[in-house]
Amino acid sequence: MSPAVSSPPRTALVTGASSGIGAAVAAALVERGYRVFGTSRDPGAVTAPVPGVEYLALDLTDYASVEACAEAAGEVDVLVNNAGESQNGPIEELPMDAVERVFRLNVFGAVRLTQLVLPGMRSRGYGRVVMVGSMLASFPLAYRSSYVASKAAVKGFADAARRELSPFGVGVTTVEPGSINTGISERRTQYVGEGSPFREEYRTMVDTLNANEAKGIPAERVAATVVGAIEAKRPRPLYAVGSNAPVVFALRRLLPRAVMLRIVARKHGLR
Ligand SMILES: NC(=O)c1ccc[n+]([C@@H]2O[C@H](COP(=O)([O-])OP(=O)(O)OC[C@H]3O[C@@H](n4cnc5c(N)ncnc54)[C@H](OP(=O)(O)O)[C@@H]3O)[C@@H](O)[C@H]2O)c1
Repeated sequence: MSPAVSSPPRTALVTGASSGIGAAVAAALVERGYRVFGTSRDPGAVTAPVPGVEYLALDLTDYASVEACAEAAGEVDVLVNNAGESQNGPIEELPMDAVERVFRLNVFGAVRLTQLVLPGMRSRGYGRVVMVGSMLASFPLAYRSSYVASKAAVKGFADAARRELSPFGVGVTTVEPGSINTGISERRTQYVGEGSPFREEYRTMVDTLNANEAKGIPAERVAATVVGAIEAKRPRPLYAVGSNAPVVFALRRLLPRAVMLRIVARKHGLR
């Protein structure tokens, strides 16, 4: 790719830039000449800060923190809503406060931050908003219901808002990663009781999920897709990367939904 042509440089805000996909996106944008703000709940504790990234504090579960972060970033041309929690557990056993937290983080915080940067993008006649979703929103998986639903929700916001904002030069898009080797397996939140009737199946699913993540593609591949979406003249509504995305999305168009759901379950060791 040729360097980004922008003078003065465009400004990007990448949430969850302390590790994984967010750090890779922030690094790729710095390399492309953007001024990049990256966020962490605790910027002082980021172990491998990305060179050139200016870190801001952000806790997406707290609207006051979201507002302070938007204020600190100022005029933003590109927003990458990447931060997220990978929550797991049988639907029956998910504590409602955990379900609310994952929606606050993965959905409501991202939506609020988007609301705060949109007026500036509209008035300047240019903007890009990328929601980092998950292929699981397109291929739902057992024991991931709250996470799947949160990622489907952000895609819904993005798909619907697209038409509202395109007349103002603001492109809204969703990037759905498949299995990406970021170490997220160690950070999953899990809710399954000791004596749970689902425990054995749950373990099988999570072991397969973690093995897939360990064999997944590097975060830099997702970053390249995100940058491609940002710099496209007309960003597509949906990009997917990893887990053989082109093949599985083609199958999804051909097969009945029930068959596709069964295949996804089997791929994760569930009969
Ligand atoms: N890895 C995969 O296989 C995969 C697949 C599909 C989708 N995704 C999605 O891709 C995104 C990034 O995942 P990743 O694998 O790179 O995970 P990760 O390395 O665990 O990164 C998650 C980021 O979210 C931030 N974060 C956590 N809680 C937060 C909160 N309350 N407020 C604000 N930020 C918070 C973390 O920052 P601090 O801890 O510094 O605050 C961290 O930078 C997530 O949305 C995830 O769902 C990942």
